[in-house]
Amino acid sequence: MKKDLLKLLDLSPEEIREILDVADQLKYDLKHGIEHKVLAGKTLAMIFEKNSTRTRVSFETGIYQLGGQGIFLSSAESQLGRGEPIRDTARVLSRYCAGIMIRTFEQSKVEELAEYASIPVINGLTDFCHPCQVLADLMTIREHYSTLEGLKACYVGDGNNMSNSIIVGCLKMGMDISIGCPDAYRPDQQVIDFAATQANKLTITSDIFAAAKDADVIFTDVWASMGMEAEKAQREKDFAGYCVDEKLMAVAKPGCMVQHCLPAHRGEEISEAVFEAHADEIFEEAENRLHAQKAVMALLMKD
Ligand code: CP
Ligand code: NVA
Repeated sequence: MKKDLLKLLDLSPEEIREILDVADQLKYDLKHGIEHKVLAGKTLAMIFEKNSTRTRVSFETGIYQLGGQGIFLSSAESQLGRGEPIRDTARVLSRYCAGIMIRTFEQSKVEELAEYASIPVINGLTDFCHPCQVLADLMTIREHYSTLEGLKACYVGDGNNMSNSIIVGCLKMGMDISIGCPDAYRPDQQVIDFAATQANKLTITSDIFAAAKDADVIFTDVWASMGMEAEKAQREKDFAGYCVDEKLMAVAKPGCMVQHCLPAHRGEEISEAVFEAHADEIFEEAENRLHAQKAVMALLMKD
């Protein structure tokens, strides 16, 4: 396993599979009262420069269940918010903690943090990607179908951090993936270039019905991500029709799963009816953040 989890592009399929296998085991063990205090006495610094419910609570609960403790650092209250360089923060936190989780804007900030930290750095979301979320998504899909290989995934909406990680995660695990997005909101070129090197297929189209045809799993995410609040009105116009609703689900395979990283905006990227019909899958996905991240922390932070 590498020192850090910065983006799924850095992981081999074997490393992703190892995380998912450990996550499955930790989930089973938690439900059967079997404890793993493998991080006893260790702390995880959790830097948040954007809002969070799931990431914060699942990391803090996860490190606690592994015997350690999380330390929440918001940019507003730490010296980061007053301009202390990330490379100094990295070296200071390395003297106290066993790992750092960071949610921020630029991917380059996370990469710099990892370069200067002597302890593992885990990406809890950047504008470029959301690797922890997609590990949980892959775990949820594998639980449902007992396999990932050969499945067809579809993502509907903005070519954002979630779409970037979904493309990489799905292709690395032997799935095909089609993206239904407006032409002006395509996924990151780095991810499109990566896809071109893979045996499995990425297709990008503005026709969401073509994208969703025969899908085994449909993903969606908000039209305006954190930090894009000023563009919300424009995006609502540009994304009109890019909605996972019953009409779209009808072209997917019967029994097709729905995944949404949450928070969801009913009536925008997903209809109320589809959300509620697939609520069990979506909240299992949210739960699996805990198990997948415990696996990541155990694998990266254990002595
Ligand atoms: N899906 C996700 O990362 O949720 P939060 O923004 O609540 O952490
Ligand atoms: N794309 C969303 C994901 C939230 C978990 C955002 O970045 O706001």
